[in-house]
Amino acid sequence: MSNNDPISTIDFSLYPAHLQRCLSRLEQALEAQRLDRLLIHSGEPALCFLDDRYSPYVVNPQYAWWTPHHAPHCGLLLEPGRQPVLYNYQPVDYWHAAPPRPESWWADHFELRDVTDPNDWLDDLTDQSGLAVIGDAPVLAQKFPNAALNPGALLHQLHVARTVKTPWEQGCLAAANHRAVRGHLAVAEAFVPGTSEFELQLAYLRATGHSDNGTPYSNIIALNEHAAVLHFTELSRSVPLELRSLVIDAGAEVFGYASDITRTYTTQQAGPFADLIKGVDGLQTELAGAVRAGVDYRDLHLQAHQLVAALLQAQGIVDMEPEAQLEAGLSSAFLPHGLGHYLGLQVHDVAGLVDDDGEPIPRPDGHPYLRLTRHLEAGNVLTIEPGVYFIEQLLAPLRSGPYSQHINWSLIDSLKPYGGIRIEDDVLVTDDQPRNLSREAFAAAA
Ligand code: GLY
Ligand code: MN
Repeated sequence: MSNNDPISTIDFSLYPAHLQRCLSRLEQALEAQRLDRLLIHSGEPALCFLDDRYSPYVVNPQYAWWTPHHAPHCGLLLEPGRQPVLYNYQPVDYWHAAPPRPESWWADHFELRDVTDPNDWLDDLTDQSGLAVIGDAPVLAQKFPNAALNPGALLHQLHVARTVKTPWEQGCLAAANHRAVRGHLAVAEAFVPGTSEFELQLAYLRATGHSDNGTPYSNIIALNEHAAVLHFTELSRSVPLELRSLVIDAGAEVFGYASDITRTYTTQQAGPFADLIKGVDGLQTELAGAVRAGVDYRDLHLQAHQLVAALLQAQGIVDMEPEAQLEAGLSSAFLPHGLGHYLGLQVHDVAGLVDDDGEPIPRPDGHPYLRLTRHLEAGNVLTIEPGVYFIEQLLAPLRSGPYSQHINWSLIDSLKPYGGIRIEDDVLVTDDQPRNLSREAFAAAA
């Protein structure tokens, strides 16, 4: 296997310590909430309205924190001092493939109870005193009238625990980066005249081994003007007459953990858009390198605006000092989203906007889309994803506004057909220098 084979990078011996940490954090949370036990339901696929087919199944992320076995209709019964019980749904079913058999590296740490009918194990839990239940299966409210169903304070404590990734989780997130990088490299190679967004998506899926529903979020593959739509997921089948630019924002998954990587390419050999890509890449690297334990992520976000404003000035797009651009809100017209977010079992991972007590940590004024406002700590994994876009809905008010004469409209109009730029890496906070999991993966694949 090559050194960037995603699974070959995983150290399975790290899993038991991860499970132990989950158990000890749960024990503290249960004690604080005066609860004795927790049942977590894995989830179930929803039937489509007036149809007999199901929407794609997405495992309950609270369940996925404990085990890589993500089949529906399963349950985990967790009680301090006792081995975790996994009710393993194994239907007698000749219509569908059976769920995968448990593998010993994780299954040896659970008491596995195979069940053929989900009702059997749900009915097993008749004593509901001191029991909390986490899950969104509709059946739970009916089966557990006397349990605490999705109690907010317990959920919050578990969400905060999930913000610090164990070495096992860090390995999964690094592997998810290796997997995504395979796709990114295939797409970079396929970015030649004659291609379409849909063809690039096929190249990505083939290289990562993902199915359409298996990626952690819908891939954003945006050619030319489409790159100005922040979440462009339409995957046009048309081949553009002229190929100018590509934003690819695409991740991958390993044992439930996600990566989230964005790159921007252009066919322009030299010129203002190629220069802007270099500029965004430079400031993105600087911001990713500034990730440290103790840093307030809001400050990094505001620093990103300073750097983007300085780039706009250096490239002759806005003739104003960065500070003045920020005060006038100009940088937000070119960078209208947050600098990034926590990453983990969910792409926009939990607890980014609250403190340890569950109190909201406000976003800076004028920055409504920032998804992370906490002070960083070792073990956090987060994205750094600055961008510069040419979005007419945001530019139109500037054209007629008080700063219009400071903006080089002819240059902007020549850049608009390229859409925009975003560059995004996944970064692990340590006690020292940060680890850029995405750039490590690109380097390993080189
Ligand atoms: N990768 C898409 C996002 O972070 O919103
Ligand atoms: Mn992201």
